[in-house]
Amino acid sequence: MNKNSEAKFIGTKVLGTGSYFPKKVLSNADLEKIVETTDEWILTRTGIKERRVSEADEPTSQLAYFAALEALKSANISPQDIDLILVATITPDMQCPSTACLLQNKLGLKGIPAFDLSAACSGFIYAVSMAKAYIESGMYKTVLIVGAEELTKFTDWTDRSTCVLFGDGAGAMVLTASDESQSLLSVYLGADGSFSDLLFVPAGGTKNPATLDTVNQKLHSIKMLGKEVFKAAVPKMVYAAQKALELASKKLEDIKLFIPHQANMRILEAVAKKLNISMESVFVNLHKTGNISSATTITALDEAIKTGKLVKGDLVELVAFGAGFTWGAAVIQV
Ligand code: UT7
Repeated sequence: MNKNSEAKFIGTKVLGTGSYFPKKVLSNADLEKIVETTDEWILTRTGIKERRVSEADEPTSQLAYFAALEALKSANISPQDIDLILVATITPDMQCPSTACLLQNKLGLKGIPAFDLSAACSGFIYAVSMAKAYIESGMYKTVLIVGAEELTKFTDWTDRSTCVLFGDGAGAMVLTASDESQSLLSVYLGADGSFSDLLFVPAGGTKNPATLDTVNQKLHSIKMLGKEVFKAAVPKMVYAAQKALELASKKLEDIKLFIPHQANMRILEAVAKKLNISMESVFVNLHKTGNISSATTITALDEAIKTGKLVKGDLVELVAFGAGFTWGAAVIQV
C-alpha cells in the first residue's frame, strides 16, 4: 500500500470504470405535483425526463463506495492496489472530514492518502488531470478517482428554475501507470472566478455561516442564473474540446464519442453544432439522470462502455463546464 515510487512513467492507462445511482426515481410528472411546472416545459427546455434521488440515510460517500467497487471490479484489481483516492464533489457528506476519507474507510484502505476536490461540474475532469499528474510524476502508481453528488439535498424544492434540473449519482475510474501505452492522451482545464455569483450555494461557508435565518431563506441550496450560465457554457465547452484535441494531436474525426457534461440537451446540441459534429457522435443520458455535476461525464462514460457504444481502442472526449466558472476536457483511449 502507498507505494510511492521513484520511477517516472510515460503514460497513464484507464484500468476500469463503474457507476452507481440511487434506486428512487423522480419523474417530471412527480415534480408537477410539488412545484408549478410541466413535463412539457422541462422536456423541451432541458431534455430531462427523470432523475435519481438518494434516500435520507444514503449519503454521497455511499454512492461513491458502490461506484468505486464496480470500478475496482472492472479494473480487475483489489482495493489494496490503490495508492491514492480523489473524490470530486460539491455535495460532500459533511463539511469535514472529506468524502474521500469516508470512502477510504468504507473500502478498508487505512493509510493511503485521500482528499476531495471542488470544481463543480468540471470536477471529474479536474480529478483526471490530478491523477495523470500524480501518476506521471511517479508519485503514485494507481489512483481511484470518483465524481459523486447528491444535488437533490442542496435543492430548493420551491424554486422551479433549479429544482427540476438536478439529480444524484456517482461514477468512478481506476487509472494506473503505464510504460508501453498511454490511454489518457490529454487533459485541458480552465476557470474564471469572476463569474462565481451566477451559480452558487450562498450560505454554509465562512461568508455566510449557517444561521436560522440562512436556513429560513433557503440559502443552503443551489442558486443559478440559468440563461447566463447557458451562454457561457457553450463557447467554453467548444474551446475546451478543441484545446484537449490539440494537446492530444488528434482531430475531431478521430473521436468516436463526445461525452459532454449533461446539463441541458440544448447546450449539447449547440456545442455539437459549433464543433460541426453530428449528434450521433454525442452521448446523451441526461433524460434519465438530470444534471449530476461532477458525476455526469464519468457515469456517461461508464454507460457508453457497458452498452458497447465504446469498444477497446476507441477515442472518447469528455468535456465539462460548471460553477466557478470551471471548464475542461480530456481525450481518452478506452
Ligand atoms: O451544470 C452547470 C452548468 N449548468 C447549466 O449549464 C445550466 C444552464 N442553463 C440552462 O440549462 C437553462 O438556462 C435553464 C434550463 C436553467 C432554463 O432555461 P431557459 O430557457 O434559460 O429559461 P428561463 O430561465 O429564461 O425561463 C423562461 C421562462 C420564465 O418565464 P417567463 O419569465 O418567460 O414568463 C421562467 O419563469 O420559463 C419559466 N420557468 C419555468 N416554467 C415552468 C423557469 N423554470 C420553469 C419550470 N417550469 N421549471
